[in-house]
Amino acid sequence: MAYKKGSKYEITVKAPTQLLKPLTVPTKTLTGPGPSNCSNRVLKSLGNQLLGHLHAETIQLMDEIKLGIQYIFQTRNRLTLAVSASGHGAMEASLGNILEAGETILIVVNGFWGERAINMASRLAGVTVRSIRSEPGIPIDLRQLEESLKEHKPDVVFMVHGESSTGMRQPLEGFGDMVHKYGGLLIVDTVVTIGSEPFFMDDWSIDVVYTGSQKVLGAPPGLSPISFSLLAERKIFSRKTTVPVFYWDMTLLGEYWGCFDKPRTYHHTISATLVYGLREALARIAEEGLEASWSRHKTAGKILKRGLALRGLQCFVKNSEYQLNGLVSIELPPGVDGKLVCEYAMKKYKVEISGGLGPTNGKVLRIGLLGVNASGKRIGSIFRALDDGLRNSSKSKL
Ligand code: GLV
Repeated sequence: MAYKKGSKYEITVKAPTQLLKPLTVPTKTLTGPGPSNCSNRVLKSLGNQLLGHLHAETIQLMDEIKLGIQYIFQTRNRLTLAVSASGHGAMEASLGNILEAGETILIVVNGFWGERAINMASRLAGVTVRSIRSEPGIPIDLRQLEESLKEHKPDVVFMVHGESSTGMRQPLEGFGDMVHKYGGLLIVDTVVTIGSEPFFMDDWSIDVVYTGSQKVLGAPPGLSPISFSLLAERKIFSRKTTVPVFYWDMTLLGEYWGCFDKPRTYHHTISATLVYGLREALARIAEEGLEASWSRHKTAGKILKRGLALRGLQCFVKNSEYQLNGLVSIELPPGVDGKLVCEYAMKKYKVEISGGLGPTNGKVLRIGLLGVNASGKRIGSIFRALDDGLRNSSKSKL
């Protein structure tokens, strides 16, 4: 049938019948590296009607979010906001704002996320990318960093606090001061650690920090907290060139988020729904208290690791001092097909156990106890699924 009498156009692509069926979403236990399950409080907030991106109520919620981010990062930085993107966007935003053509970045690599930062930084025109590497699962120390700073004289250093590909925590105390001593700025990825590991942005002199909303915070992915120190802010405002990507430009985003005591101006249309979710996720952690959240994750991690040891399973990160609280990588026992374990746990128990990533691909199983999932009840479900999965996933059965 013609679209309109006499029209030369017709609807030839039909309405998909798949969309005429009701939406069905199964409930799964999200105990991989993330996303983790949202709390009921966050889920309830997501059902609210939309508001406009410059409505007074939205702005009020954004202001509350800023305070919540300052709390979880332990910072007083005014340039603190959430970018409308998953953690990848925040990584891209931090690199794109802080680096300019002619500058050098030194990236610490001991897993997948360092490599991802190399990939992103290498796309920035005129930026020289150098790396300092340690074995996956082994952090670098201050002495190694200092040698590299002397050698490469970077303008910026990038580190990952929690390598979700291996389950390793990189200690950070002293690193900010060391980078500053050699005239650089320090960016730290805390996507998997904020709320599960002690972290002090100001006390540790870190210049740029970002995290994800979908891990410990337990909000949907799509808004990523980020904060810039005064030094970082000054650097952004004294750039010779504008930030190459409009969407990430902190001089504009900072205005939209009301960071500069200037009238707010339109930058993009933030998702009010995600604002509700992040606001409630931050409210939940503010109510629980950071220290209580760190200690809940530590206890859950300990119980999980004790259960793994009783089963003779080994953590990929050998030194327990550097094992993350909220994410554990387990070495695959000989003869076990990791992919089958994950599929089995999901199919029979709707429990997510994840395989490796980057250097651990095919070598480990990863279990995340993040946010509401850092609890004894969840650990019970994980072990039921894991034990059964391991029994039924030996390579010899194929
Ligand atoms: C994502 O964060 C992952 O580690 O797979």
